[in-house]
Amino acid sequence: MRTFNWAILGLGHIAHKFAESLALLPDARLHAVASRDLTKAQTFAAEFGVPHALGRYEGLLTVPDLDAVYIATPHSEHHAHTLLCLRGGLPVLCEKAFARNAREAQEMIQVAGEQRVFLMEAFWTRFFPAVAKALELVEAGVIGEVKHLVADFGFAATYNPEGRLFNPALAGGSLLDIGVYPLFISKLFLGEPTAVRAVATPAPTGVDLNCAMALAYASGATATLFSTVAASTDNQCILYGTQGQLQLLGRFHAPSGVRVQRPGEEAEVIPFDKPGYGYHYEAVHVQQCLTQGLAESPLLPLSFSLELMQQLDEVRQQIGLRYPGE
Ligand SMILES: NC(=O)c1ccc[n+]([C@@H]2O[C@H](COP(=O)([O-])OP(=O)(O)OC[C@H]3O[C@@H](n4cnc5c(N)ncnc54)[C@H](OP(=O)(O)O)[C@@H]3O)[C@@H](O)[C@H]2O)c1
Repeated sequence: MRTFNWAILGLGHIAHKFAESLALLPDARLHAVASRDLTKAQTFAAEFGVPHALGRYEGLLTVPDLDAVYIATPHSEHHAHTLLCLRGGLPVLCEKAFARNAREAQEMIQVAGEQRVFLMEAFWTRFFPAVAKALELVEAGVIGEVKHLVADFGFAATYNPEGRLFNPALAGGSLLDIGVYPLFISKLFLGEPTAVRAVATPAPTGVDLNCAMALAYASGATATLFSTVAASTDNQCILYGTQGQLQLLGRFHAPSGVRVQRPGEEAEVIPFDKPGYGYHYEAVHVQQCLTQGLAESPLLPLSFSLELMQQLDEVRQQIGLRYPGE
């Protein structure tokens, strides 16, 4: 069995969870970690038994036998860090939101193509077994024609104008951080919208504290989506169809099962085991793509990530949110 050598670029909150998730995979090894701070990289490497600890992100380009880099920096940095790796010939799994805007995402995709190097957005939700099951059920018409989708994602963040959630220079705000999940799930089930309407409430730094969106689709379906970093919400996703409703159970972005309720019938619940946080599902998929020599994922193609980014741009234009330097 081939063992995949992973690296992590940017050693913050999510980097730790990803490292724990990789440890669940017998054919994955965390081979290198890169931080702007060597001591931080060394501490991280000691905790996870990583052979290469680097105090500069560029140092990754000199590590032998790397198979893939997971980029876990703020949204404002994804473009530069992805280009750094791609131009060094390193396959990339880059955190959501994929970039600050569609122009940056487009360039990342173009460079991946020119370099013939694998690139995928780390939209981990896509790779949960419960999501695959829900797609299968909806496509089989179990709830009839989907007429409406509701999805929300909210948590009460501590206000810190310098931190990545509220700082415009780091492309903060609820939309890019968590509003991207409701947009992702509605795109997955309903496709590209024909109309998007958005309103938002700004935080004192100018990024969106709350963002509410209404979307319409050519099929006749609609969606209502919501994100906030000011209040804890249920993180639900429910699809309403002509013959019933389907819910992703648990927090929909990391679902633990599917519930189908058809009129006059008992609800059917399909649970799934979720070992660890669930980040290993996306890592397994990347490893499968690399084994097959694919330049992009068939489950989460780059065109999907670009269109999602274009939706984020459209919403930001409507709510009047521009980041410094855009
Ligand atoms: N998939 C998920 O469930 C999930 C959950 C949370 C976050 N995320 C995503 O993961 C990414 C990182 O989020 P996080 O919560 O891990 O953030 P975080 O805790 O703030 O960590 C980000 C890391 O990026 C590096 N960095 C590079 N340039 C930076 C800059 N100018 N300012 C601040 N940090 C900089 C730092 O690492 P070094 O100091 O080591 O260089 C920092 O520790 C974001 O894209 C976010 O949306 C995904």
